[in-house]
Amino acid sequence: MREIKNIAIAGAGTMGYSMAQAFAKFGYPVKLYDLFPAALEKAKHLIAINQSAEVEAGNLTAEESEALCGRITFTADLNDLADTDFLVEAILEKLDVKHSFYRQLSEVVAEDAILCSNTSGLSITKIAEAVKNPERFAGMHWMNPPHIIPLIEIIRGEKTTEETAEIVRQVALGLKKKPVVIKDAPSFVLNRLQQAILRESLHIVEQGIASPEAIDDVMKYALGFRYACFGPFETCDLGGLDIHYNISKYTWPDLCDAKAPFGLIQDCIDQGKLGVKNGAGFYDYSDGKDDAVIKHRDEMFLKLSKCLFGEE
Ligand SMILES: NC(=O)c1ccc[n+]([C@@H]2O[C@H](COP(=O)([O-])OP(=O)(O)OC[C@H]3O[C@@H](n4cnc5c(N)ncnc54)[C@H](O)[C@@H]3O)[C@@H](O)[C@H]2O)c1
Repeated sequence: MREIKNIAIAGAGTMGYSMAQAFAKFGYPVKLYDLFPAALEKAKHLIAINQSAEVEAGNLTAEESEALCGRITFTADLNDLADTDFLVEAILEKLDVKHSFYRQLSEVVAEDAILCSNTSGLSITKIAEAVKNPERFAGMHWMNPPHIIPLIEIIRGEKTTEETAEIVRQVALGLKKKPVVIKDAPSFVLNRLQQAILRESLHIVEQGIASPEAIDDVMKYALGFRYACFGPFETCDLGGLDIHYNISKYTWPDLCDAKAPFGLIQDCIDQGKLGVKNGAGFYDYSDGKDDAVIKHRDEMFLKLSKCLFGEE
């Protein structure tokens, strides 16, 4: 198996800067690349916020945190990625943009460097059309925030070899993550489940059954609480299959089956509200509430992680 030493992350946005931290935490030198220098500056700021949450949570000393940050370098020059052994791409979620990126990247990196896309659900097989030697390419789907959430979906496209999938899995395990290897299918697994919940949540609001705040509470204080420990099949076993089967029979006919986004999310998009990243979404994040909510999220997730997995 190829020795993985030098890591590159392409795209320094919401996912990229945090993935850079996840690798740097385990001693890898990481190059964080973005087309835009302003994105790299923002990434430095957000890494500092994340790291202060880690130090406050007692996960790292201030010195360890400084050393971790020292392993991350920033570049807007694709040619700087020439010595990459393992790359995770987290750029714009558009097939043509990803294709153009992989065509250029293929000319820069070694022919056997392992290349992964963090796409949320675009076809790995289709992205691979622009990758030279597509057998060394796979999906590596991290969750937000990647330096904390344990799961990584590893997606095998039609041309991804078993060896490549295994290298990606081993790298994920080395970062103390919980990888699952799956087949290429629209939106993979996590996003299919997540989108089913989002669609039903929007439907419940639209029907006037509950407010977004109430739905968020239902998830946080019951379903999410339970799902942090037991998946849907385990939950079904615990509750009784007969009970769940009967509830399914009378509930499913009433559930949303819309084929396109609608309601509250459409209203927000039309008003240019994109969430924490631009100061407003379903809720308000102006006047520093954006940084505060990211810090709060990381503190809560770190506590949860400690609870579920101890100090590992
Ligand atoms: N945000 C999430 O919760 C999440 C979760 C899992 C996967 N993803 C996926 O990760 C990827 C990145 O998502 P994000 O939320 O970090 O996006 P983002 O918009 O926050 O960041 C994307 C970054 O990529 C840069 N970029 C765009 N085109 C580029 C190019 N051609 N070359 C280099 N840099 C380029 C942008 O400047 C930006 O900094 C997407 O494929 C997305 O679907 C996102």
